[in-house]
Amino acid sequence: MRTLHVNLGKNSYDIVFERGLLSDVGKYVKREGRRLAVVTDDNVAKLYADGVVSSLEKAGYRVSLIVLPHGEKTKSFNTLPQIYAKLLQQKITRKDALVALGGGVIGDLTGFVAATYLRGIDFIQIPTSLLAQVDSSIGGKVAVDLTEGKNLVGAFWQPEQVLIDVNALSSLSEEFFTDGMAEVIKYGCIKDKNLFKTLADCGGKKGLLPVIDDVIYRCCDIKREVVEKDEKDKGERMLLNFGHTYGHALEKFYDFEKLSHGMAVSVGMYAITKIAEEKGLTAKGAADEIARVAVMYGLPVEDSAPASEVVKGVVNDKKNLGDKLVAVLLKEIGESYLYPTTAEFFK
Ligand SMILES: NC(=O)c1ccc[n+]([C@@H]2O[C@H](COP(=O)([O-])OP(=O)(O)OC[C@H]3O[C@@H](n4cnc5c(N)ncnc54)[C@H](O)[C@@H]3O)[C@@H](O)[C@H]2O)c1
Ligand SMILES: [Zn+2]
Repeated sequence: MRTLHVNLGKNSYDIVFERGLLSDVGKYVKREGRRLAVVTDDNVAKLYADGVVSSLEKAGYRVSLIVLPHGEKTKSFNTLPQIYAKLLQQKITRKDALVALGGGVIGDLTGFVAATYLRGIDFIQIPTSLLAQVDSSIGGKVAVDLTEGKNLVGAFWQPEQVLIDVNALSSLSEEFFTDGMAEVIKYGCIKDKNLFKTLADCGGKKGLLPVIDDVIYRCCDIKREVVEKDEKDKGERMLLNFGHTYGHALEKFYDFEKLSHGMAVSVGMYAITKIAEEKGLTAKGAADEIARVAVMYGLPVEDSAPASEVVKGVVNDKKNLGDKLVAVLLKEIGESYLYPTTAEFFK
């Protein structure tokens, strides 16, 4: 077992890493409140809900299970009333806690419910997708989507614990594994050239699996460090948006249908680095290195969408004020910085 401590004053918590933890969760959860509501999706429920629920029951908790349909549509503002209603029926009080068992959709949604139900109760993250294990379960950004756009209603609400079982990735589809790899590559790009080199040396998923525990741990440690410096996303934490400004615009350009988040971020990391190289803002060769590694893990780096059209979406991104935006650039692989500019940057 390994742990990382996320130091956020009274909102501090541990991230616990242990293979096989999913069938033994009761051992890791130590709290006074006796009731727990486990929130999950139908895919994850089939595989892991029984083990998690029975282990928590054995540890003495009264456990209820809320199973939602899988997919981003579930992370909607409209899903909230039915969850609040179930928690009330199950008499979940402010002493009790929610358990988010699943990918980023379940983590973000359950976290938002935890932040708002009875003015806020505790929640535990048990991330089961690669993206959730390296990214969304840590840092306390929780949200739901509106019809007008993704993540438009949310909060900063830190979990009480994050419990990571890397074994869960063995049932994750190739598609979602690949998707999560974009964030893993991102961490290497922005903070750790050794991590990036490991990814390159592994040559792809098959080579990576023997060292994946260390890679996930390292990604979590990078996210921990960034979040500790800037919990509320006003400076350093923006570095985590590397490749995301153009990536989000590209996802939107295709109405979230053609490219997954990871694919769009991969294209975005390559695009911004290529442009920055041309402007002399990034060391030469970085974009090609990103492309080489992204392709090894099955991610695209180019897309046929015309940049001039995609960029229109950059201007409307909620993180940008009007035409102004803060671009995340690499000095070189492993070192990133914020560069205030405008959407013109991409043209
Ligand atoms: N809060 C944050 O900081 C943050 C950061 C990045 C992304 N996100 C959010 O995360 C969401 C995407 O997360 P995601 O990619 O995990 O999507 P997801 O939660 O939809 O999970 C992907 C798919 O994999 C399935 N799945 C998950 N774990 C599995 C397992 N172990 N075995 C088999 N199937 C499994 C799920 O049922 C789902 O169909 C988005 O809504 C995004 O906005 C949040
Ligand atoms: Zn992302």
